[in-house]
Amino acid sequence: MFDKWFQRKKRSEKGGLTFVQVPRHIAIIMDGNGRWAKKRGLPRVAGHREGMNTVKKIVREADRLGVKILTLYAFSTENWKRPKDEVDYLMRLPEQFLKSYLPELIEKNVRVMVMGDESRLPEATQKAVNTAKEKTANNDGMILNFALNYGSRKEITDAVKGIAEKVKNGSLVPDEITEDIIENHLLSCHLPDPDLLIRTSGELRLSNFMLWQLAYTEFWFTDVYWPDFNESHLHEAIQQYCGRTRRFGGVVES
Ligand code: FPP
Repeated sequence: MFDKWFQRKKRSEKGGLTFVQVPRHIAIIMDGNGRWAKKRGLPRVAGHREGMNTVKKIVREADRLGVKILTLYAFSTENWKRPKDEVDYLMRLPEQFLKSYLPELIEKNVRVMVMGDESRLPEATQKAVNTAKEKTANNDGMILNFALNYGSRKEITDAVKGIAEKVKNGSLVPDEITEDIIENHLLSCHLPDPDLLIRTSGELRLSNFMLWQLAYTEFWFTDVYWPDFNESHLHEAIQQYCGRTRRFGGVVES
């Protein structure tokens, strides 16, 4: 069903009949792992483990559909407040994920990137992530961008500090500070802004995620918990996205 609709959409784009297309950059706040586990009488970490399997499924499908960048919020700067056991488990997940999945990512020409302060991650996690980044550095397929120990306010604060430093040493004057200059100091400077933001689990907030970059992003929320999120939910989000008119504050002629 979705595939037929999708192929039609792609053809009509080529014919110039419509300007909507598969979102180039999808960002996802993967929420609801804990509640998914609780509902089943399982420990919270069981939800995170199942959430990791959902990541594999969604990476495969996003890649198949031609999404260029998939950013996944895997650990926030605020998540350190969780019980130590849970933090330790979450910290080990990237390593576990990459251990079993890196060969497939390499084969699929996917490039792995990380956005966040990696210095606080356990050594083994840093090593796994660095290996993945190195081994996929020349891949030019989909970018799989993990937001890991990421917080938007910290990112913006660091950008301001970087800019202030340049003003102080005379390499920049305040009048030269533009939106582009600010963007160039963000962790996402090498990526276009997300076109579509998905948040699972029924929460309607951004939780310190890409506050600058989401200024004109289309949002799609679902009550489904992340471990239950599947290809059909992704299709639904993309279909809804395709039905929206993005005006970026301007006017679209009818
Ligand atoms: C929020 O759910 C989820 C997280 C804080 C962690 C997200 C991580 C994964 C989905 C796995 C990551 C996988 C890789 C490959 C790094 P929650 O625990 O806040 O759920 P709750 O709101 O129901 O308690």
